[in-house]
Amino acid sequence: MTTETGAGQWGTALSMACSYFGLDCKVFMVKVSYEQKPFRREVMRTYGASVTPSPSMTTEVGRKILAEHPGTTGSLGCAISEAVEVAVNNPGYRYVLGSVLNQVLLHQSVIGLETKAALDKYGIKPDIIIGCAGGGSNLGGLISPFMGQKLRGEADYRIIAVEPASCPSFTRGVYAYDFCDTGMVCPLAKMYTLGSDFIPAPNHAGGLRYHGMSPVLSQLYDDGYMEAVSVPQTSVFEAAEEFARVEGILPAPESSHAIRVAIDEALKCKQTGEEKNIVFGLTGTGYFDMLAYEKFHDGKMDDYIPTDEELASFRARLPKVN
Ligand SMILES: Cc1ncc(COP(=O)(O)O)c(C=O)c1O
Repeated sequence: MTTETGAGQWGTALSMACSYFGLDCKVFMVKVSYEQKPFRREVMRTYGASVTPSPSMTTEVGRKILAEHPGTTGSLGCAISEAVEVAVNNPGYRYVLGSVLNQVLLHQSVIGLETKAALDKYGIKPDIIIGCAGGGSNLGGLISPFMGQKLRGEADYRIIAVEPASCPSFTRGVYAYDFCDTGMVCPLAKMYTLGSDFIPAPNHAGGLRYHGMSPVLSQLYDDGYMEAVSVPQTSVFEAAEEFARVEGILPAPESSHAIRVAIDEALKCKQTGEEKNIVFGLTGTGYFDMLAYEKFHDGKMDDYIPTDEELASFRARLPKVN
């Protein structure tokens, strides 16, 4: 069994328990993504996975979450708790997460290594490197060789994480020890977090709905080595549409967060007359996300930005760590 790097990228907010030889795969997919992204779900089923909307009644932790939050649309934190429970209770199964954890970032560093090799080949030095941030794996992978140079004082880059305004872990979260999952069965991690029971509003289309952020990226952000911005989803889809019309590539909603900020930074250059090389991560195709595009085109998409009071109520429930 190999770690399913980019399970986030593939299924958008899912967590898996796999039998040791990789023949049987039980996927817990965030309920709202299961409904909004039926085609991603069907791809996984085509390859033999069973896909359950999370939280579900099939696990103890799922039933507990549903009792506490009836009708919840779920979060990656809930899906993690359920997949861990299944892996623990089924001999030969292992739990696999596709984001957040250090080994996933390490695996995804191939993205950054290939990007750097391509840029070096053409003698291009990026000024700004931008990536969308859910749990932080694609961004962590993309920036890894560049951040290495920055930390060693060999080169300097502006590095920007882009997150949804509806799930702003970096920009409005706190740097604290928190559970990696909603059911509180996983170990604590020190990270930027909104609180492990934070669940983004159901109108949020796309992934990037994790309550926390990769511990490595959290440390780098806290130490001032990178920046973060949050963007509302309608502006993200505007950027996606513009990108599709100019480039002929239909981007995933998640990737379009990075596109939004890449366009914004390019527009700033246009105003100031500066020339900058802007690199961003295009993490996935949007062809599985046409229901979200449909909503946007029909003017049925809106933005939900949590209030300070809402965020404070989740923060108040963070574990007390001495
Ligand atoms: C297409 C796509 N890109 C990026 C991400 C973000 O995940 P991460 O921050 O772990 O790279 C996701 C997950 O939600 C995704 O589905």
